[in-house]
Amino acid sequence: MTIKQKGRFITFEGIDGAGKSTHIQFVSEMLKLAGIDNIITREPGGTPLGEQLRDILLHQEMSVATEALLMFAARQEHLEQKILPALRQGIWVISDRFADASFAYQGAGKQFSWSKLEQLENWVLEGFQPDLTLLFDLPAKLAEERRSGTHEPDKFELEKSGFFLRARAGYLKRAETHPERFRIIDSSQTIPIIQRQIAGIIQPMIDASR
Ligand code: TYD
Repeated sequence: MTIKQKGRFITFEGIDGAGKSTHIQFVSEMLKLAGIDNIITREPGGTPLGEQLRDILLHQEMSVATEALLMFAARQEHLEQKILPALRQGIWVISDRFADASFAYQGAGKQFSWSKLEQLENWVLEGFQPDLTLLFDLPAKLAEERRSGTHEPDKFELEKSGFFLRARAGYLKRAETHPERFRIIDSSQTIPIIQRQIAGIIQPMIDASR
C-alpha cells in the first residue's frame, strides 16, 4: 500500500458512554470553518459492506477471534474504499473509532491475544496510523451511569462493568505505546472545557497544514 496522504486522519476513541460522539461534530465544524473539507465516518462500518458487518458484530454472538477478524475485515474495506481515497484528495477524515478499539475491546476487554491483534494490524494497516487520536477517558463506573437509558444497548454495551474497566486500561496502554498521536481528554470535565481543550489540539494541526 503506498500511502501518500494530503488530508489528515483523526480518530475518536473511548469506552461507551465516554462522550466522544458529542465532540465529533465540533471538530468537523471547526475544520469546515477553517475551510478544510472533511468527512465523518465510523467503525465498525463506514462502507456498505462495513455497515452490514457492523450489524452482525453488534447484535450476533460469536467467538472473540471471529469478532476480531470481522472488525479488521471491515477496517480493510473502510481503509481502501473510503479513508485512503479521501486523504489522497486532501479531505480530512474523522473516524468514530478505529484500530485502537479492537485492542481495547477484543484485546483488553475480552482478553484476546494482543500479539494476534498486532499481526492483524500490521497486515491490514501496513504501518498506516492516524495522525491524531483523541481518547475520551472516563472511569468505567461514570461511563456506565452516562450510558444508562440513553438508547437500546447493543451487544458490547451489555457487557459487565469489569469489561469496561479492562477496555479503559487497554486504551490507556495503547496511548502509552503510541504517545506521538494520542491525546487523552479527561471526559469528566464539562463540555465547554473539553471543547476548548480539543480546539487547542486541532488548531495547531490546521496551522501546520497550510
Ligand atoms: P459505537 O459506534 O461507539 O457505538 P454507539 O453506536 O453506541 O455509539 O461502537 C460500536 C461498538 O463496537 C462499541 O461498543 C465498541 C465496539 N467495537 C469493538 O468492539 N471493536 C472494534 O474494533 C470497534 C471499531 C468497535
